Amino acid sequence: FKTIDALEPAGKRVLLRADLNVPVRDGRITDRTRIERLAPTIKELSDKGARVIVCSHFDRPKGKRVPEMSLKPMQEALAAALGRPVAFADDCVGPEAEAAVAALADGDVLLLENTRYHAGEEKNDPGLSAGLAKLGDVFVNDAFSAAHRAHSSTEGVARLLPAYAGRLMEAELKALDAALGNPARPVVAIVGGAKISTKLDLLGNLTGKVNVLVIGGAMANTFLAAQGHSMGKSLQEAEMHDTARTILAEAAAKGCEILLPVDLVVAGEFKANAPSRTVAIDRVPDDMMALDVGLDTVAMVEDRLRSASTLVWNGPFGAFEIPPFDTATVAVAQTVASLTASSGLKSIAGGGDTVSALRHAGVMERMTYVSSAGGAFLEWLEGKTLPGVAALEQG
Ligand code: 3PG
Repeated sequence: FKTIDALEPAGKRVLLRADLNVPVRDGRITDRTRIERLAPTIKELSDKGARVIVCSHFDRPKGKRVPEMSLKPMQEALAAALGRPVAFADDCVGPEAEAAVAALADGDVLLLENTRYHAGEEKNDPGLSAGLAKLGDVFVNDAFSAAHRAHSSTEGVARLLPAYAGRLMEAELKALDAALGNPARPVVAIVGGAKISTKLDLLGNLTGKVNVLVIGGAMANTFLAAQGHSMGKSLQEAEMHDTARTILAEAAAKGCEILLPVDLVVAGEFKANAPSRTVAIDRVPDDMMALDVGLDTVAMVEDRLRSASTLVWNGPFGAFEIPPFDTATVAVAQTVASLTASSGLKSIAGGGDTVSALRHAGVMERMTYVSSAGGAFLEWLEGKTLPGVAALEQG
């Protein structure tokens, strides 16, 4: 794919796909990470004299102009992150958008209203793609986190204009390549999460690519139960035991070592500071549930990490939102951060919960790379082609 290094932006109208789908509560942005990570691309293009036209989806208005899903509140946030004014157009295509684009001078930045106000966006409608393409001379996609969607503003328009990857897209793709595409070995993957059923493709793909796969979260309970351990009241998927055994057998055949917990922190209820204790995996009381892995498991994982060159991390070990069940996740996160600094471990993490957990552990800045993507990061871990990226590769 081409990056903006290959683009001579001065005087050009650059249509830039951003992902401004940021968390908002009561009309206020609660996390500006995506905006801050996008800002350098816009600044660079604007500094070089481009007329930057930013488009994005926000939430899921399903083709209707839902007022709470307007991108208008992002105008100020974007201007603050850029340190320069941002204009706003009330629609992403049509006369209003075209007039706003025509009014731009070199270096100006314009934000367009939510692309998902048009039903055509999610249908990858050629008419909407053409309407967007009309606004730019070139297209820059900086929305890796929306690249798993084959929509007009991510895929359709990339086929109608000369298309380039923005700096954030470039950084994401390079980090992912270093993680699984062409990694330094041994590679360890940590996968957590509640269910095997939602991560089947991911587990299948990873066992073929990594040397060690560490399983955490409630998903580990299903694997342990499938091996015959009694899991008490722990969250697990009883109907997935056969699948869990198949995954273990296939991993062994592929030469991938699967590490399951050896001890668990159990409590009587899922509540902050509920009385808890650590037990071996074959000692889970009938009336208790596993809410974290124990310190022997942490030590075992840390031992593998010390001899690893690359780590891919998706999903916490325990119920990290409620203390003390964040203990294992925080301990491993801190070890990962110090190995990244001291022994050159390449640590790459992504996915909504994982990012919250790493932030909670205070190690966000100390990882080699933390993806800004949720669903796109997962689909990429599953080995799927992301339409937004594929369109850039052909462009
Ligand atoms: C995300 O936040 O993961 C992306 O912006 C995609 O949003 P979507 O799941 O609504 O398509």
